[in-house]
Amino acid sequence: MKVLVATEKPFAKVAVDGIREVVEKNGYELALLEKYTDVNDLYKAVADADALIVRSDKVTKEVIDHAKNLKIVVRAGAGYDNLDLEACTARGIVAMNTPGQNSNAVAELVMGMLVYCVRNFYNGKSGSELMGKKLGLLAFGNVGRNVARIAKGFGMEVYAFDQFLTAKQIEDGGVHAVDNRDALFEQCDIVSLHIPATPETKQSIGYDVVGKMRKGGILVNTARKEVIDEAGLLKLMNERADIKYISDVMPDADAEFKKLEGRYFATPKKMGAQTEEANINAGIAAANQIADFFKNGNKKFQVNK
Ligand code: 3PG
Repeated sequence: MKVLVATEKPFAKVAVDGIREVVEKNGYELALLEKYTDVNDLYKAVADADALIVRSDKVTKEVIDHAKNLKIVVRAGAGYDNLDLEACTARGIVAMNTPGQNSNAVAELVMGMLVYCVRNFYNGKSGSELMGKKLGLLAFGNVGRNVARIAKGFGMEVYAFDQFLTAKQIEDGGVHAVDNRDALFEQCDIVSLHIPATPETKQSIGYDVVGKMRKGGILVNTARKEVIDEAGLLKLMNERADIKYISDVMPDADAEFKKLEGRYFATPKKMGAQTEEANINAGIAAANQIADFFKNGNKKFQVNK
């Protein structure tokens, strides 16, 4: 039985060592394809794999077509918009994610990027503090909850809206519930996005909703670039010189955003989950889920039901 780890953006070595240990302990063979730049290398590597572990790597129908033995693919991470679930289902391949495993890493980056932003990108000029500011979380899942925990340590007032949770469920999580998405933008100084990229959320954050933010509003995106209506956000930021956008998912229109000097920052490569700890957590969880699936038929984290 062969388990292929195919990661264009590799895990830390210590995480790969941990994955290898789990795979070999269970009597399987580990194959590693890292930093590949040609999709043909992935097609070749996946040809005899029984199981596949990926990060944001695109598992398209073409990849599935080349993977004749594949039974399970695990996205080591939260968002699985990179997996063609229909193609997996059509072949009877189980697709899973590893929810929660890298969420603290993303949450810490949110706070780091926020400090960087309110201190004027460390240019030495007088900035502002996070204490007492209202932070709005759009979606209150694993990452949102970790952001809330850390933000409270900064003395921030934390609010959340999540279309899949009741106000009580949100309040039970220790933050203030807000009635709807627009109200979150209206009421908060900073809004942090934690929604997945789905047909409903794609391009859903743009001119109108961000335009509801109060003066000096900051939008933080560690989710997916696809949820932003880039043209709409650019139009707004050109009209309102007080709005700032900081992102861990570089927009397609990066060059246009860069013209908004002092109000925009994007990491060159998505790095929210790029810590040794998150790599170990998500990578080893993926390997264990594969072993548990093969040995016990456990499909707990299946996302293509
Ligand atoms: C996730 O969905 O888990 C994060 O966006 C992390 O993605 P990455 O594994 O590509 O860093």
